[in-house]
Amino acid sequence: MSEVTVGVLGLGYVGQCVAATLADRGMRVRAVDIDEQVVAELNEGYSRFAETALLDRVARSVQSGRLTASVRAEDLTDTDVVLIAVGTPVRPDGTLDDTQLRGACTTLGQHLRPGQLVLLKSTVPPGTTRRLVRPLLEAGGLTAGTDFDLAMTPERLAEGNALADLESIPMIVGGLTPRATRAAATFWHDALGVQVIEQDSPEAAEIAKLADNWWIDLNIALANELARFCALYEVDVLDVISAANTLAKGGGTVNILLPSIGVGGSCLTKDPWMVHRSAADHGLELRTPAVGRQVNAEMPGWTARLLIDELAAAGRQVAGARIAVLGLAFKNDTGDLRSTPVQPLVAELQRAGAEVSLYDPLIDEARIKETFGVRPASSLTEAVQDAVCVAVLAYHRPFRDIDFAALPVAPSCLVLDGRAYFPKETVVRLRELGYRYRGVGR
Ligand SMILES: NC(=O)c1ccc[n+]([C@@H]2O[C@H](COP(=O)([O-])OP(=O)(O)OC[C@H]3O[C@@H](n4cnc5c(N)ncnc54)[C@H](O)[C@@H]3O)[C@@H](O)[C@H]2O)c1
Repeated sequence: MSEVTVGVLGLGYVGQCVAATLADRGMRVRAVDIDEQVVAELNEGYSRFAETALLDRVARSVQSGRLTASVRAEDLTDTDVVLIAVGTPVRPDGTLDDTQLRGACTTLGQHLRPGQLVLLKSTVPPGTTRRLVRPLLEAGGLTAGTDFDLAMTPERLAEGNALADLESIPMIVGGLTPRATRAAATFWHDALGVQVIEQDSPEAAEIAKLADNWWIDLNIALANELARFCALYEVDVLDVISAANTLAKGGGTVNILLPSIGVGGSCLTKDPWMVHRSAADHGLELRTPAVGRQVNAEMPGWTARLLIDELAAAGRQVAGARIAVLGLAFKNDTGDLRSTPVQPLVAELQRAGAEVSLYDPLIDEARIKETFGVRPASSLTEAVQDAVCVAVLAYHRPFRDIDFAALPVAPSCLVLDGRAYFPKETVVRLRELGYRYRGVGR
């Protein structure tokens, strides 16, 4: 594979992870983005994304000369395979905001050469590869299936574990023609050494990706409602889930995921709406994508009320109280603030009059200020000083070393466990130290 040259169009989170991984595995990678700053950063060996090992991989790939970035789409003409990894957000009505995809495909179409293989990695509604991407590429003068091949090969990595995922998760491929499917399958098998799952069409590959995120969001919604149900009986939801998940079912076992303060990020918050809207456009009313979204979107408000009630139970008012929030990202071990459920939770506490101090070592001050409107604390100690509650809302690796005995918090401080899933021994220890403890469904 080392002689293969790969173009990557779109150097966001996914584009950078894929580009750096392919370069690290010996391929020459020409990466293109319209954002000059991202391109400049990458050429300096820097990645703005706080993803485990990504910075090292980018730095190594740039230093070896195997990864270069530019804003010139013509640099893609000399590549063998072009991956499209631009953003595909949805509008409030669930329809695809295709601005980035249109722009990328229009430009790429003008620079394609015969013999290339184009692979769409962005998540899209069914039919997009065939009805939007194909004609935009063909507007450049070449014909798909004859002059170049086109396939949908969706990205399924998860933030926080992205680089390991890339080299282990099977790749789904669905080409416009059987030849395109075979070429895509061969490329991914050789490039990443992963299992390849061939589908009969791009639509099947598009739907398979959406099915994954529809299932994950709905499963988390079940876990969140289960947590609220368990709370009625003072039962620890994590015990219930561990027990329930021992039941053999289908090819595996019941697999209820973990409850939390809510679902965020750029994928799970939009992909179920993509499904819902695509179905509605064909006259089919699907209920489960919307239900999952609604249940998960309620969790930040529910958690804020849980926190306020816990303070009240301890005779404390939320108004004027100092609440330290540790971890602002949408999940553990990522610096991604997109659609983070921490934001509405914090807003709810601020509306109730709390003085909220924010701390996240994975995110720089400017981005925190942009999302939350306030300057974060510059250290853990500053954040928790005199706090009546320490809310651990994203449990990043650096937080695992926190010595709760040494924190300068107020007496009988509440530890609100939003996503740390502290084991029972830790909860016992916290109580011995004088903390109160409450988790989602615990
Ligand atoms: N973030 C994830 O964890 C994840 C996981 C799986 C799949 N996906 C999907 O992958 C796709 C990309 O997601 P992301 O999180 O990397 O998005 P992103 O917003 O981080 O990155 C998009 C990049 O595309 C660039 N871009 C926009 N228009 C362009 C154009 N015309 N030409 C070249 N570059 C252009 C932007 O400047 C930006 O750098 C989306 O479809 C998303 O749903 C994301």
